[in-house]
Amino acid sequence: MSRLIPMIGNSASIQNVFQLIEKIADSDSTVLITGESGTGKELIARSIHSLSHRKHESFIAINCAAIPADLLESELFGHVRGAFTGAIQNKAGRFELADGGTIFLDEIGDLAPLLQVKLLRVLQERSFEPVGGTKSIHVDVRVIAATNKNLTELVKKNLFREDLYYRLNVIPIEVPPLRERKEDIPLLLDHYIKTLNIRKNKKIQGVTDQALSALINYPWPGNIRELENLVERMVILKGEGVIDYADLPQPYRSSSSHPAEVSHAMLEPFVPHFQFPESGIDFNSVVDQFENHLLLMALEKTKWNRNQAAQLLGINRTTLVEKLKKKGLKPATSVVSQPKPQHHISSVLPDRTHQINIPQPDQNLEI
Ligand SMILES: Nc1ncnc2c1ncn2[C@@H]1O[C@H](COP(=O)(O)OP(=O)(O)O)[C@@H](O)[C@H]1O
Ligand SMILES: [Mg+2]
Repeated sequence: MSRLIPMIGNSASIQNVFQLIEKIADSDSTVLITGESGTGKELIARSIHSLSHRKHESFIAINCAAIPADLLESELFGHVRGAFTGAIQNKAGRFELADGGTIFLDEIGDLAPLLQVKLLRVLQERSFEPVGGTKSIHVDVRVIAATNKNLTELVKKNLFREDLYYRLNVIPIEVPPLRERKEDIPLLLDHYIKTLNIRKNKKIQGVTDQALSALINYPWPGNIRELENLVERMVILKGEGVIDYADLPQPYRSSSSHPAEVSHAMLEPFVPHFQFPESGIDFNSVVDQFENHLLLMALEKTKWNRNQAAQLLGINRTTLVEKLKKKGLKPATSVVSQPKPQHHISSVLPDRTHQINIPQPDQNLEI
């Protein structure tokens, strides 16, 4: 029996990743997946395996950061009886268990130098010796590695071997953080509300526009994992009805997304001489805020006369009104007396969500 793992996403950047996965899945080439924690690196690795000719063999995942270096060597490569105290019998390592299938080396940036050498040899020759052993073991394994660290930086600092980096980086897949693909947020919310309703036997119908706009503005440092956990929490706590802004835990109620709190002063830093920060910017959100700033300037100048403001901005009145509605911008005083109409998230979603469904074999081993 196979299960489906849906990977959700309509943004150009994640669609590119989906296309890449489909293109390279069956190639046997080594893959290096980079991206922040919770962006879907492991899901991508499983997808690649499940779309490859190895799909009926094992997928073995191992987190290189979670196991101390001395234990990790024996976990990866196995050991022979008597190799160290407690090694009472031969034990196969993860590479041997993955023979014929795929090994997923998570957090590869944390691999100790000695193990980097050993891994390099596996990648070059597909063979290794177990700890304490002298006989080489040959394996046919597809290697997929992942890291949330900047490996080229680690190479520069001599913390990661350059030759190993090039051996791993045959097919690089960069997974963008969720805040750089905000258009996927409504799709993911919808997906997780539906699946968690079923799993937890609840009846959440969606989220209000105001809650949605707060969630779209939120930076999601924990990416999709954080979104999934938040939805689970809200589905359980609320149980039924529509999730509103007031239902969101505090960190998700960003001031910029709350109409009552959108202020001129907040946007001031973006004009007139924007200084590009060293750390870079979130392009869409800066442009969005700059647009808000211009709209608010025109509206304040005209005491919120939309006709005159539209003229000042050189846009149609209907365009202005649509923008204000979409952004939830209102004169500060009218917000309290005019509650926003509630729209369910499902009503704002396209009928068809773009996703790839990957058949998943049952035989997945993981430590
Ligand atoms: N595109 C996606 N669509 C739906 N769920 C996703 C997607 N990407 C990741 N997830 C889910 O988010 C969570 C974190 O993904 P994971 O692959 O463990 O991230 P990482 O390995 O980068 O930390 C998992 O529950 C995973 O199923
Ligand atoms: Mg992970």
